Amino acid sequence: MINKVCKRYVLLAIIPLLLLSVLVGCSSASQTEASQETDQRPILIEGPMPIEAENFAQKLKNVKEEKSGTFVFYKGTVDNYPVIVVKTGKGMENTAAATAIAIEKYNPIAIINQGTSGGHDPDLNVFDIVLGKRTTNIGSMKTADKAKNEGMDPTVWKPMDLMASEGSAGEDPDAEKIRYYEGDKDLLAAANAVKDKYTKGKIVEGTIGSADVWNNEIDRINWFHKKYGTSVEEMETASAAQIAKAYDTPFLGIRILSNNKVNGGKYNPNTAAANQEYVYEVVKEYISTMPSE
Ligand code: 5AD
Repeated sequence: MINKVCKRYVLLAIIPLLLLSVLVGCSSASQTEASQETDQRPILIEGPMPIEAENFAQKLKNVKEEKSGTFVFYKGTVDNYPVIVVKTGKGMENTAAATAIAIEKYNPIAIINQGTSGGHDPDLNVFDIVLGKRTTNIGSMKTADKAKNEGMDPTVWKPMDLMASEGSAGEDPDAEKIRYYEGDKDLLAAANAVKDKYTKGKIVEGTIGSADVWNNEIDRINWFHKKYGTSVEEMETASAAQIAKAYDTPFLGIRILSNNKVNGGKYNPNTAAANQEYVYEVVKEYISTMPSE
């Protein structure tokens, strides 16, 4: 009798212990899964305006929204891989800041800056897409030396490379050159691999020129096209490329033409969504070619 009672007490004591060990086992397994997820460096997709970021953000699974200043980060997954969409706001400063914050906070493995643009190349039409094999800042310039009443002449302004040295860009003759940021070859390969999935226009490799300026003078557009080799202009890619390079992060600009002054291509806001559809295919392709750990 005493023996039976003892056995019951022992069992009563053991069962909760067993339950506890099962629970501890479960929670450590889910912790490992969670930490594996966060070990993967996300792909960062940038878009300036709501129409240039929100379509992509809606394609993400398991989205969590975070804000930093005016920048909105949509953290989610594509094909179970972490992808973050950031709505940067328009222009060079917003984009540079959002890019630096994203790199510091999320340590992305690659960055794509995408959105709309205006054509500099008469062979490109609204809905065509330019993959930024090269990106350059077309607002960084040094004017001619002219005295009072000698006027101003933008056609003789020289490009100014702010990354040439740590000395004065105004005095340094080495700074009088165009700085190009190269598109990452693996991102370019992924973009080229899914070209055929895009049917609304053609996709070409080219040069993206960026500045906080919207050029509507055709002679000036042609001047950039000839001197800088620009395919399109917009207001963000070069600033993101510059910051990505500062952190040695692979980068590519992907820009759709929403307008083209040189061949009469009228502005069409639907291009923003079309570009995101294509960039989504690029991201899936890039993820599928990543080496699995
Ligand atoms: N010139 C400059 N920016 C343009 N954009 C679209 N087309 C042009 C153009 N022709 C984009 C910029 C910015 C917004 C004003 O539209 O990248 O985000």
